[in-house]
Amino acid sequence: MEVIISKTAEEASQLAGALVNNAVRNNPSLVLGLATGSTPLSLYKEMVKACRAGLDYSRVRTFNLDEYYGISPEHPQSYRKFMNDHLFSKLNIDLKNTHVPDGLARDVPAHCATYEAAIKAAGGIDIQVLGIGSDGHIGFNEPTSSLASRTRLVTLTQQTVSDNARFFATADQVPRYALSMGVGTILESKKCIMLCFGANKAKAVKGAIEGGMSQFNPASALQMHPDTVVFLDEAAAADLQLKDYYRWAAANQPL
Ligand code: PGA
Repeated sequence: MEVIISKTAEEASQLAGALVNNAVRNNPSLVLGLATGSTPLSLYKEMVKACRAGLDYSRVRTFNLDEYYGISPEHPQSYRKFMNDHLFSKLNIDLKNTHVPDGLARDVPAHCATYEAAIKAAGGIDIQVLGIGSDGHIGFNEPTSSLASRTRLVTLTQQTVSDNARFFATADQVPRYALSMGVGTILESKKCIMLCFGANKAKAVKGAIEGGMSQFNPASALQMHPDTVVFLDEAAAADLQLKDYYRWAAANQPL
């Protein structure tokens, strides 16, 4: 993993944004894997800024990591609505090219298989954007998720339900289940960029980067991925043992 520590989340998001925007510039029909949550919002602003300055997103295709199960795409807290509001409506992207699992899918295994097949048919994900849960989840792959898992129905942890309660009127309204790409699905992306900001992520980040690879911290599976860049702010990097080395390595990249 390449670990990039920035002073602030804002700075880290600018670096990640430049990476994504350059990739779209080089390949106008790039396939992007996208994430929801507070973390990628500044990255999405960088994408919107570039699009408003002329970068063409009209042929870009996207696949989101996950969706709450049991709520409709129109639900105010659905991830489909989140993506439409925060990103898709602000880009010149064709909504037909954007994919989010359907939280109301009736035949869940068939829907998940179709989602996986659509990713394959698009040629696979070129860049997968990831956040990390305070419990180490990527997508909604909670601790104990198989590191070979595929898109499927999962049960959220109590930690995730309580972390996400801030978006709902009461914790009782947070869905208990979600459809999520699996860790195995994520690992097939050609490049992964994981953004982790804030002190409440420091423990999960330490486990993901410097811990042993374990299904107890699904993000640690990225240690097996050949091209992952982790963007951190100082607070999320606080517990890392090799912080000085990551800074040194970032400043002394081999050609
Ligand atoms: P957050 O969520 O960006 O809202 O902290 C991250 C995640 O759960 O993956």
